[in-house]
Amino acid sequence: MKIAILPGDGIGTEIVAEAVKVLNVLDLKFETESALVGGAAFESHGHPLPESTLKLAMDADAVLFGAVGDWKYDTLDRPLRPEQAILGLRKNLGLFANFRPAICYDQLTQASSLKPELVSGLDILIIRELTGDIYFGQPRGRRIATDGHFPGAEEAFDTMRYSRPEIERIAHVAFQAARKRKAAGGEGRVTSVDKANVLETFQLWKDVVTQIGLQYPDIALDHMYVDNAAMQLVRAPKKFDVVVTGNMFGDILSDAAAMLTGSIGMLPSASLNDKGQGLYEPSHGSAPDIAGKDVANPLATILSVAMMLRFSLNQPEAAARIEKAVDSVLTQGLRTADIFSEGTSLVGTAQMGEAVVKAMSRD
Ligand code: IPM
Ligand code: MN
Repeated sequence: MKIAILPGDGIGTEIVAEAVKVLNVLDLKFETESALVGGAAFESHGHPLPESTLKLAMDADAVLFGAVGDWKYDTLDRPLRPEQAILGLRKNLGLFANFRPAICYDQLTQASSLKPELVSGLDILIIRELTGDIYFGQPRGRRIATDGHFPGAEEAFDTMRYSRPEIERIAHVAFQAARKRKAAGGEGRVTSVDKANVLETFQLWKDVVTQIGLQYPDIALDHMYVDNAAMQLVRAPKKFDVVVTGNMFGDILSDAAAMLTGSIGMLPSASLNDKGQGLYEPSHGSAPDIAGKDVANPLATILSVAMMLRFSLNQPEAAARIEKAVDSVLTQGLRTADIFSEGTSLVGTAQMGEAVVKAMSRD
């Protein structure tokens, strides 16, 4: 088993360092190799996703990814910006299925921006399609308009598109995930989020998800427009079970869902292809404003390691051990700044990582 470690930029290096400590406590046989990615790779190699980094990721069973990006790169040509590294990894590895669970720990209901009764016990799963949609659709670019409201003016355009097989495979992923959750006591429901009332792309989406749903009679399917889904997420988030949606809607809704749980600093994610390879990263970004200050929450990255063990490395016991340790440090009252509240103990990034390691050694 080979794990590629790509810390990236900003808080990426700090949080990945803690996740690697956790990985090393497990007595498992695997090789790890690190490489630069994002702005850090641009500085040293002149490209955010150098050939060598891409090759390392493609040859690995799993990739542990930190975060990329910094405002100082905002003026670079788009292909050289740090964000292109994660987009390039998703595309080149074919990581089409993005799992973004939003789980509210009992210990953190007070940290949520919503009333405790709306989030206590919250456990939903957003499945975001990750290699299609307006993120990757061609053509895109800038040109002088020849029609529209202002012919002759400079304009920019992107293309939203999905093919039937792209929708079919993500729909299968969602129904299977709902089935698995149902077997573990879940509700067994998929909510497909679209904008079929306006967009042709999402009418096809809705039609295809409906057709695939017929193969899963044990799973309930409902459809929701994305604007309504955004509202329902902050009105009654517990009404959702599995949410499946496209790349852009999933990007936006998963950030909103993340905040319900107290902090986006708690949320792991997995991006999978059809070969069992996966990229595991926290749902949050590189947070350059707090980078290097030992204040970032490493738990999302540590929990991403648990997802890696479960999805790519077939080590569910080790995954459960990490999750139990995270639960235990929260019960001990340890909190990084993002989840701190009165009566709890404020700790830094490294202290939090070490606390998890310690909790793991206890069992
Ligand atoms: C995410 C991020 C990325 C995205 C950026 C960094 C390209 O926001 O993983 O959600 O938009 O997908
Ligand atoms: Mn995002």
